[in-house]
Amino acid sequence: MQSMRLAKHLAHAGVASRRAAEALIADGRVAVDGEVATDPARDVTGEEAITLDGRPVAPPRRERVVFAVNKPAGVVSTARDTHGRPTVVDLVARRDESGARLYPVGRLDADTTGLLLLTDDGDLAHRLTHPRYEVPKTYRARVQGGRVPERALRALREGVALDDGRTAPAHVRQLAPGELELTLREGRKRQVRRMCAAVGHPVQALQRVAFGPLRLGDLPPGAARRLTPAEVARLRSAAAAGPTRRARRSP
Ligand code: URA
Repeated sequence: MQSMRLAKHLAHAGVASRRAAEALIADGRVAVDGEVATDPARDVTGEEAITLDGRPVAPPRRERVVFAVNKPAGVVSTARDTHGRPTVVDLVARRDESGARLYPVGRLDADTTGLLLLTDDGDLAHRLTHPRYEVPKTYRARVQGGRVPERALRALREGVALDDGRTAPAHVRQLAPGELELTLREGRKRQVRRMCAAVGHPVQALQRVAFGPLRLGDLPPGAARRLTPAEVARLRSAAAAGPTRRARRSP
């Protein structure tokens, strides 16, 4: 196998962007054949036993793909639906020429619209959705009851008691009376709907407008596009660091 720089090898293996891989190496989290590697420029062939935080790193593989979809209401975000409803994978299949087997990155409720990612990169999908990596997701919610009082906004920001525990601190702004923008770093089932209902303002319509560094932008409903390598690298960086880097500060 051809040799390449260690940081590039890690990036090709889908661990992180090249810059983030260099930081992982500098932090002493990468070992080659059992010895901590400190030089991101050292060459590896891929024959070595390379680990990150003690876990083996997969060998470089063919380029992974990530798609962004603007999910319309009524489309389910599972790979297959037992009730025959359209799925987000169907939306991408028309545009994907890579032949990759794509899976949704997390879920949106059938009646939630907006940004959903699909990828064949299981490691990236895991990091983007696992609460440990605290990747922020931003939603716009239209809620019942008109203007939401400051007391309820504060509760949403500081944490709401739900039946599966208190929610973590969130960014919450009222864009117009009854129009909220919420940024969460966790992703529990129907979390935004349950949080808003808990403060007395049930959700009437919900849209995800951002996922980590990626914004929905002007992607039309039902449309899908493949992310550029730079966008994928930014996503990887956002998902590369866990709470240790962010020192558990609020979002
Ligand atoms: N929160 C919800 O309540 N529903 C979604 O689809 C996403 C976040």
